[in-house]
Amino acid sequence: MEYTEKVMDHFANPRNVGTIENASGVGTVGNAQCGDIMKVYLKIEDNIVEDAKFKTFGCGAAVATSSMATELIIGKTIDEALKITNKTVMDALGGLPPVKVHCSCLAEEALHAALWDYAEKHGITIDGLKPPEEVEH
Ligand code: FES
Repeated sequence: MEYTEKVMDHFANPRNVGTIENASGVGTVGNAQCGDIMKVYLKIEDNIVEDAKFKTFGCGAAVATSSMATELIIGKTIDEALKITNKTVMDALGGLPPVKVHCSCLAEEALHAALWDYAEKHGITIDGLKPPEEVEH
């Protein structure tokens, strides 16, 4: 199985690992295929994602995609953040082996779950955002 240099870099030196105190939104999702878990914290101010952090109990590809996803989302508006898909993240990493594509979905789902949490806490609706599937915390 081949990983790109970017994937190896983000796996070995993941960006934005950790938590955010009093986060604007927190999303936790589980991957049905492998049982791995991802948690994303967002700090949102004036419609801009000011900060993003993640923690994962997941594989190397999950670490690398979450690292890249948080890098891509920071500084974006909510609408722009919503357009960041697992494909965007994979492209930014130079691709993933086909059997690892589902790992990148974990990052996207966790981001969306965190945005959903933010919207719920603030009583707003984010166009195009679907509710996350319930997971056990
Ligand atoms: Fe579970 Fe990659 S094997 S997220």
